[in-house]
Amino acid sequence: MIPQILNPMEQIDHTFLIIFSISAFILLGISGLSIYFLFRYHHTRNPDPDPIEGNLLLEFVWTIIPVILVSGMFVSGWTGFKAARTVPVGAYPIKTTARMWAWNFEYPNGKIADTLWVPQGKPIKIILQSLDVIHSFYMPAYRIKMDALPGRETYTWFLPMKTGEFTVFCAEYCGLKHADMSAKVVVATQTEFDEWVNDFTTPGAVVATGPQKILFDKGCLGCHSLDGSVKAGPTFKGIFGRKTFVIKGGQEESLTADEAYLRRSILDPKAEIVKGFPDLMPPPMDISPEDLNTIINCLKSLP
Ligand code: CUA
Repeated sequence: MIPQILNPMEQIDHTFLIIFSISAFILLGISGLSIYFLFRYHHTRNPDPDPIEGNLLLEFVWTIIPVILVSGMFVSGWTGFKAARTVPVGAYPIKTTARMWAWNFEYPNGKIADTLWVPQGKPIKIILQSLDVIHSFYMPAYRIKMDALPGRETYTWFLPMKTGEFTVFCAEYCGLKHADMSAKVVVATQTEFDEWVNDFTTPGAVVATGPQKILFDKGCLGCHSLDGSVKAGPTFKGIFGRKTFVIKGGQEESLTADEAYLRRSILDPKAEIVKGFPDLMPPPMDISPEDLNTIINCLKSLP
């Protein structure tokens, strides 16, 4: 009897094996027969071709066999698809946000991290959304791939069986840094996981509360770090009052990052590009004057 909830990972492998075996059998069969017929019906051995016209049994057989094979593939694929779309009751929900070019994972207790930690042996529901363009959550170790779409929630689930480290990739071309858009997945024991998820100071835990939350909410932290590391854009660390070289209208200029500059660089990011960085930042889609002030105050308050 088919269990009510299949592990989709296993079913996907079964389907792959079935389709691969049938394809290999057909490839070898057709290639072998072709070679044999080349030899057997060469004009020196078969000078007078004798075409066959109409053979009901043969036609019946070559219709029925492919129907059986294709139906087998369909049933196996459908079973796996159904399992992949049926999230087990009580699955642990993790809200996953994609943006150019980073993944963020939000846990039920409010912790947000850039690493996906999951407890071993517990079904995990990944609830996906995108803040900008289409991305795709791709975890080959668990055979799952699901698009993250702007303005629409999608989901997928998996059952982490073994502890260890895996990777999530982005499988949908989403711009210049698409290739860098990956995240680490850590499958830990329940005890280790509980400890990690309740510790808001672990590396990778984005400050979910406090003044810096706006930078996360608005997607700034996808490209600008808080710790001085270089991402797609310059770091926010010490940005206020920093001496900055920019390219403006093709000319290099030096300026001090004051409040007016920060404001300009958010509202019209293409006007002045910080030297050494690509022209990537999109103008804000919707930003209220209050949000803009909050962001600027936050940037000014950063160490
Ligand atoms: Cu995100 Cu490719």
